[in-house]
Amino acid sequence: MIQAASLSVSYNSQSKVPALEEVSFSVEAGERLALIGANGAGKSTLLLSLVGILPPASGELRVCGMPPDRKNLSEVRRRAALMFQNPDDQLFMPTLEEDIAFGPRNYGFTEDAIQSRMAAVLGELGISHLKNRLSHKLSGGEKRLAALAGVLVMEPSLLLLDEPSSFLDPRARRGLIRILGGLSLTMLIATHDLDLAHRLCPRVILLNHGRISADGPTEEILGNETLLEQNGL
Ligand SMILES: Nc1ncnc2c1ncn2[C@@H]1O[C@H](COP(=O)(O)OP(=O)(O)O)[C@@H](O)[C@H]1O
Ligand SMILES: [Mg+2]
Repeated sequence: MIQAASLSVSYNSQSKVPALEEVSFSVEAGERLALIGANGAGKSTLLLSLVGILPPASGELRVCGMPPDRKNLSEVRRRAALMFQNPDDQLFMPTLEEDIAFGPRNYGFTEDAIQSRMAAVLGELGISHLKNRLSHKLSGGEKRLAALAGVLVMEPSLLLLDEPSSFLDPRARRGLIRILGGLSLTMLIATHDLDLAHRLCPRVILLNHGRISADGPTEEILGNETLLEQNGL
């Protein structure tokens, strides 16, 4: 699903310190993996580079079998769906229905296919009743599920989530964890919510200042207090 070899990413060519430096890892189909690390560690940067928003400065990257470069961008983004940290960055059409249909319409899916996928996803997330509501008037928890519906409707093979539990109250957070746990999709979850990582992901990658400082079983990494402390967690 993902192969990164010595991947480095910078926000601008002047910056001496890259946001990601020599990052190597791979993710197999069916894996559910948490990306953890202190603020500024490079979690969001890594997700943005996977969908080609930030090109590699050096190293190699393949997502769903392709480098996410200009030539493959459309195909990569159909297969690898990124849910942004802030649902307000994702929801931009007036109603939820228009928002969810936007992606598939853009990719030229038939109206029948769009309607049936949308009904399935809204039902699965338990938000069918919100379909005609105004996106900007939804609660934090409703917005999060709406944004998730917008990525799931594309039937991606790789789901990339940036801080999915942010903006959620405890009940909405538990609901989201239950929903994500029920999806049989390859998932990479950037999160500072270590409890969520523990509940959902058998494997963790720990980032520190743009480098991988640990990659392994969640139990091992989250159980190592010294390691977490050394990495600002
Ligand atoms: N738009 C940007 N322009 C310049 N630097 C950025 C930008 N976004 C993030 N950075 C820098 O890149 C590094 C990694 O940030 P980020 O990926 O957002 O970390 P995280 O998601 O782990 O909190 C940080 O040093 C941050 O300051
Ligand atoms: Mg981030």
